[in-house]
Amino acid sequence: MSIFKSHIDAMSAYQPPLEGRDPKSYTLLDFNERTIDVAEPVRRALEDFINSGRLQMYPSYGDITDRIAAYCGVDAGQVMITNGSDHGIDLIIRSACREGDEIIIPGPSFAMYTQCAQIENLSIVEPHYTREGGYPVEEVIASVTDRTRVIIISNPNNPCGTLVAPEEIVRIAKAAPGAAILVDECYFEYSKTTVADRLVECPNILITRTFSKTWGLPSIRLGYVLSATENINALLCVRGPYDINQLAVVAVDAALNSPEVTLSYVDEVMQVSKPLLEAFLDERGIDYWPSAANYLWVFPEDPVAVNQALEARHILVRPKVDREGRQGLRMTVGTEAQTRALVGVLEDIF
Ligand SMILES: Cc1ncc(COP(=O)(O)O)c(C=O)c1O
Repeated sequence: MSIFKSHIDAMSAYQPPLEGRDPKSYTLLDFNERTIDVAEPVRRALEDFINSGRLQMYPSYGDITDRIAAYCGVDAGQVMITNGSDHGIDLIIRSACREGDEIIIPGPSFAMYTQCAQIENLSIVEPHYTREGGYPVEEVIASVTDRTRVIIISNPNNPCGTLVAPEEIVRIAKAAPGAAILVDECYFEYSKTTVADRLVECPNILITRTFSKTWGLPSIRLGYVLSATENINALLCVRGPYDINQLAVVAVDAALNSPEVTLSYVDEVMQVSKPLLEAFLDERGIDYWPSAANYLWVFPEDPVAVNQALEARHILVRPKVDREGRQGLRMTVGTEAQTRALVGVLEDIF
């Protein structure tokens, strides 16, 4: 007999396919990561910290919350740092829901929302995105009941890249004032779309963001939640005092000192590389979902063969299945040079 709750025993672990991801052997276009290294000052700050004789001390976070607040244009009281945005998603769902409550998770979407909902044994309502209609706003609003405790708006969504306009998010927030509206802005720097300026108007909105993607620091795990101060104060009661490691804070502090690397990478991806890949796909008549982020969900005729051929040419992408069971390949968009190489390989394959 298990010592755990029966619904936990019934779950399976979220296991992303991390095996064999060697950046020396492959171009990694499978996890929506940044494809260039961190800036030298970030590396130096980490080395300096390691050499400073403070590794034996518990973390202290200094003014990192103020710095992130300034970057986001909100008050420091509206920010809570987390151990990656996965941690923020978990804390929000855990704090808002009781067993049996309802959560609306439009799909397909990022696996952690469902994982966290299953941990709390929630009832999951899953309206679907469509390529043409995008986020199912009307269906979400129609699905709200007095048991709805969380509504997920992954903005832009992973894997399809779909973006919801801030006005629509506000409409959903006002239609469900008793629910937490979790707006995942993990790819904010790519989409440049946010509801961070609507937190006073909509006290039920909670935004999760991260330094994993555009800032290129997923290994060190730093995310943050933006929301009304009273929500942040409540979540701080649930988050542990040392949940974020000191190295993450050191790295992000240094990264914020030199944002040019991040911002110019974002410009290259969104203004040069992505249009390049889109133009190639358009020319070939290959279907893909319109995306506001650094990835495209692409549907070639024979995705299995294309995936294998890419891997043989040392490029990794991520297979993702749509609602109809059709397999697509989610391709992260990197630098111009990497995208030209990808297009060249795709040309050969097709
Ligand atoms: C939509 C979305 N949210 C959150 C995350 C997790 O980010 P983090 O590394 O900050 O936990 C990802 C990672 O792929 C994602 O795609």
